[in-house]
Amino acid sequence: MKQFFSPADLGDLHKAFQEALEIKNNRYSHVELGRNKTLLLIFFNNSLRTRLSTQKAAMNLGMNVIVLDVNQGAWKLETQRGVIMDGDKSEHLLEAIPVMGCYCDLIGVRSFAQFQNKADDYSEAIINQFIKYSGRPVFSMESATVHPLQAFADYITIEEHKTVERPRVVLTWAPHPKALPQAVPNSFAQWMVAAGYEVVVANPEGYDLDPQFTAGATLTHDQDEALRGAHFVYAKNWSAYDDPNYGKVLSKDMNWTVSAEKMALTDNAFFMHCLPVRRGMIVTDDVIEGPRSLVIPEAANREISATVVIKRMLESL
Ligand code: CP
Repeated sequence: MKQFFSPADLGDLHKAFQEALEIKNNRYSHVELGRNKTLLLIFFNNSLRTRLSTQKAAMNLGMNVIVLDVNQGAWKLETQRGVIMDGDKSEHLLEAIPVMGCYCDLIGVRSFAQFQNKADDYSEAIINQFIKYSGRPVFSMESATVHPLQAFADYITIEEHKTVERPRVVLTWAPHPKALPQAVPNSFAQWMVAAGYEVVVANPEGYDLDPQFTAGATLTHDQDEALRGAHFVYAKNWSAYDDPNYGKVLSKDMNWTVSAEKMALTDNAFFMHCLPVRRGMIVTDDVIEGPRSLVIPEAANREISATVVIKRMLESL
């Protein structure tokens, strides 16, 4: 596997789940695979889970790990081509990327949507430059439009907890004070459809996601209708995708907060969220702390999803 952005990169998801279980049972079983290999993790944005779980995954595989926070200690990077660099940006990404590629065997990149230009964001302009100019296999640690390591961990978590073959999995928008990217909901919808589940996406009007990611899901603007009979409820905020409101907050409607009353509409559903989460906005304390909350198992499975992905990339070096 030379890159990792979508479920198609993993191939058969059931096989990937079996591989994840094997690694979970013995996470050091491939510790020789990464000996004398180096993983470079590049963060343009903050992270807790991705930073820790991806480093741990690389250590499970015996790799050396270098972490670079681009905005702390590195030269400030220009990302646009054709500009006169007379401002505060000292280095261009087009030199920095091949230099980074000199020091490693694999690269993981976290680079959120910037909400300045939808075409740039949805063409994955930053991470595609890493693919083109680094000379190394590259995986997304949440890029402008996708968060596949999270979605793979969510898939593993649902497979571990489901009690019916084809669960009803509901992705619901929930309120948040700031504009957030669409990467997590895009990938979640895409992966859950690829898994063969019954997938419902519920959001207020104006928040419909890019159809390329929700194809195969049922779309609704009625959260209560979506929640009825749900086996898994995945809450997430995202900003508007459609023009002319791309990247904007259009609503903070607290009627969309996932509460005990909302969960009572479901078929005793599990609650899921990728974290970090704003309590009282996205979800109430009693739901996230309750016995059906899977937020910690999901986070734990980030180590497992990353181990499978890095293992597959090492195998194809
Ligand atoms: N879920 C997730 O990606 O968390 P971080 O932003 O903390 O890495």
